[in-house]
Amino acid sequence: MKIGILTGGGDCPGLNAVIRAVVRKSILFYNSEVIGILEGWRGLMVEGLTEDLVLDKVSGILHRGGTIIKTSRTNPYKEKDGEKKVIENKKKLGLDALVVVGGEDTLGVAAKLHQAGVKIVGVPKTIDNDLAMTDYTFGFDTAVNTAMEAIDRVHTTAESHNRVMVVEVMGRHTGWIAIEAGIAGGADIILIPEKPVNLDKVCEAICKRHARGKDFSIVVVAEGAKIALHEENHKKESFIVQDECKDAFGHVRLGGIGKLLATEIEKRTGFETRFVILGHIQRGGTPTAFDRVLGTRFGIAAVDLVHKGEFGKMVSLQGNKIVPVDLTDAVAKLKYVDEEFYNIAEVFSA
Ligand code: F6P
Repeated sequence: MKIGILTGGGDCPGLNAVIRAVVRKSILFYNSEVIGILEGWRGLMVEGLTEDLVLDKVSGILHRGGTIIKTSRTNPYKEKDGEKKVIENKKKLGLDALVVVGGEDTLGVAAKLHQAGVKIVGVPKTIDNDLAMTDYTFGFDTAVNTAMEAIDRVHTTAESHNRVMVVEVMGRHTGWIAIEAGIAGGADIILIPEKPVNLDKVCEAICKRHARGKDFSIVVVAEGAKIALHEENHKKESFIVQDECKDAFGHVRLGGIGKLLATEIEKRTGFETRFVILGHIQRGGTPTAFDRVLGTRFGIAAVDLVHKGEFGKMVSLQGNKIVPVDLTDAVAKLKYVDEEFYNIAEVFSA
C-alpha cells in the first residue's frame, strides 16, 4: 500500500510524533510506503510537492516541535478546481489512502474529499482542543503547560510591583487553554469566548479582591473572548482583531484583547496594569510526554484503520481508549469549555 500523509492548519507540538508513528508502523508492520505531502493541502494542489518518508527521515524527530512535512492554511475548496486537482494529484502519486492530520478546517476539507470518494483517515490536532468527539487533541497539553509556566512567571513580578497582569492566550472559538492554564496557574479572573462579560464586572471583581487585602491580580484572557466595554454594549461584543484580512477558511487574525483589557482596567480601577501576549510561543517547542504519547497512539491507530479499510473516520481519545469516530460528525460542531470548568474558575474569582 502507498499512504500519503499531510499536516494542515496551525502547527502544534506532537505532529512529528504522529508522522514517526505512521511511518514506522506502515513500513515495519504492513510493508507499506509512506509519502509526505508537503505544506498541507497545498502539497496536493501542486504536482511534485512531496517527499518519501523512509525510516531515516523520521529518526530523531519525536521530541521536535513543528512538522517535518510543513503546513499551510490552503483550502482546496477556495481554489479553482481545487477538489479536482487534489484527486488528480493523489492519483498521479499512486496513493491508495491519505492520513490527514489537522483541526476543524483541515479535517473539514478531508470530510468533503471523503464524500467525493477519497480514502481518508483523520487525526485530530490543535492546541485549542476544540475538536468535537475527542476528549483531547494532541498539542493542547504542551500549550497549557507553556501558558501555565508563563502565568507562574508573571505572578511573581505582579506581586513585586503590586500590579494587575493580563495574560492573553490563544483560543479563537473556545477557551480551553485559558481555562486550564488559568486554573493551573491560579489566575484570579479567566475570560473565555464561551462566556461574554462586561468589563465593569471584571473591574468590580478586581477591586473586591484588592479590598480584601490583595495588591496584585492575574487576569487570563483567550484571544477570542468577547468583552463589552459598556453595560449598554453588552449585546454587542465582538472580536478584537489584529487584521481584518481573512485566511482561506474565513478567519480573521486575532490578538490584542490583552492590551485593550489592560488599558481599560488601569483606567477604571486605578491599579497599575501590564499585559503579555503569549501568541505562537504556545504553539512552538518540544511536546510534553502526554502529547508525544497521544500523537504516537493516534498515528498507529490511523495506520491500522487504513489497513482495515475503515475510511471516513477520525481517530479520537475517549477516556483512555483510542476510538474511531465518523469524520463528518467530528467536524460538524466544536467542543466548547464544559460548564464544570467554568464553575471551578468562578470559585477563584469570587
Ligand atoms: O491553531 C489554532 C490557533 O492556535 C488559534 O488559536 C489562533 O487564532 C490561530 O491558530 C493563529 O494561527 P496563525 O497565526 O498561524 O494564523
